[in-house]
Amino acid sequence: MRVALRVNGRDVHADCWEGESLLFALRERLGYPGSKNACEQGECGSCTVYLDGIPVCACLVAAGQAAGRSIVTVEGLARGAELHPVQQAFITAGAVQCGFCTPGLIVAAHDLLARVPDPTDLQIREALAGNLCRCTGYEKILDAVRLAGGLQRGDHG
Ligand code: FES
Ligand code: FES
Repeated sequence: MRVALRVNGRDVHADCWEGESLLFALRERLGYPGSKNACEQGECGSCTVYLDGIPVCACLVAAGQAAGRSIVTVEGLARGAELHPVQQAFITAGAVQCGFCTPGLIVAAHDLLARVPDPTDLQIREALAGNLCRCTGYEKILDAVRLAGGLQRGDHG
């Protein structure tokens, strides 16, 4: 079946089989490999994308369910060649090791900071509770979200 989607502001089509996941269509058919497939069961959050402005696990959404809807992946957060402040903060804070969890964490952190510009540590932990990281121990991820919040608020020092 042919599915029409809007991905990162572009209208695209994907030829999918019935029941194919949005994650598979994005990665394997449409050339957006940023979202990662780590569990394919909705457990790890590494595949998180925005679907009509709401973060979802793309492995749990059928590509057909996303027909006619707007998707934003981690690639779509960058401003051309310039990284989004949340993306830059993850690098600056050293919150990226193997990187498998990073795209989903960045989308989840981006969503949190859009809703809560100056979150408490508890709010950060709650917002990222669905995103698993096997490498970092999470402290540098918390640092990255705090840093990203400051960058977006224009805090200095
Ligand atoms: S790959 Fe989708 S939640 Fe893990
Ligand atoms: S950096 Fe490896 S899983 Fe998070």
